[in-house]
Amino acid sequence: MTNPGVFADLPALRACWHPVGFAAALRDAPVSADLLGEPLVLWRDSDGSVRAMSDVCVHRGTALSLGTISGDQIVCPYHGWRYGADGRCVAIPQLADPGRVPAKARVAAFRAQERYGLIWVALQEPRWPLPEVPQLDDSGWALVSAGPYSWECDAARQVENFTDFGHFPWVHPGLLGDPDRPVVPRHDVATEGHVLRYTIVRPEAPNSDDFPVFANETAGPPERRSRYELHLPYTIALWLGWGGEKGMVYFFASQPVAADRCIGYVVIGRNYNLGQNDEVIRDFEDTIFGQDQVVVESQRPDRVPFDLAAELHLKFDAVAVAYRKAMRANGLAA
Ligand code: FES
Ligand SMILES: [Fe+2]
Repeated sequence: MTNPGVFADLPALRACWHPVGFAAALRDAPVSADLLGEPLVLWRDSDGSVRAMSDVCVHRGTALSLGTISGDQIVCPYHGWRYGADGRCVAIPQLADPGRVPAKARVAAFRAQERYGLIWVALQEPRWPLPEVPQLDDSGWALVSAGPYSWECDAARQVENFTDFGHFPWVHPGLLGDPDRPVVPRHDVATEGHVLRYTIVRPEAPNSDDFPVFANETAGPPERRSRYELHLPYTIALWLGWGGEKGMVYFFASQPVAADRCIGYVVIGRNYNLGQNDEVIRDFEDTIFGQDQVVVESQRPDRVPFDLAAELHLKFDAVAVAYRKAMRANGLAA
């Protein structure tokens, strides 16, 4: 029995770039990753380029990710069949002439690229490029990664949570929000194609002694200027400022593992506190994402219902409304 309603359209999402792991986690052994219900093997060829293929050996369905890399080929762990980066099997050791490989002996190979410290895969010709975030390529900015955050909900629930303004004082009191100032400031969302843009000036909690992460001063009511770009389907770039030179970039992308599973990745850049230990930001993000996970995994349905009549939206939910409209308008929810 399937749920009636409008939900993320997994086949349509195949034509988008999605993160499948941190680039630093992929070294000389193959790694498995699930994307839109499809099991993938990720590996690096002899010049370090990232390859993504089906993780299901055409011979007996064994996971190629349990195998080994040999130059520009991946070797199945069960009978040693060797595959090239294009997914074609190039050698079957059981044959008297191992090179006499039938044409059917191949697995699907997919586009893969490495950017912003992440590995990205598109299962079909991608409709849009990755967002441009020049600060993450700027050597004057220090980068820290946080996550992966594996949640039992769809990627759209995780994305909406990341950009939900109303919950900060409730879920993150003292860290991201001030319980005495729960009113969400006015903000307008401009949607252009697959990109939503909005800016908000928000009261925030003073920098806590536990997590001295942000650049706001302690005197006066702290305010934070946040400029967002939400790129459909599941990537957000957020530029933070406090009115001076100091800036921070939050880059967030969610991997749609399956219809009801996702993994979030965070890459944070900043041009201050350059010598600060990465663990300070990582511990902060682990705390925030842990607080969010409990409430988001409780949401029903566990997938964002894209029909606007399905949940109750008020004016301060403008981003979720614009997101749900844009996902439908772009054919990513049906
Ligand atoms: S299952 Fe992969 S070679 Fe036999
Ligand atoms: Fe949150």
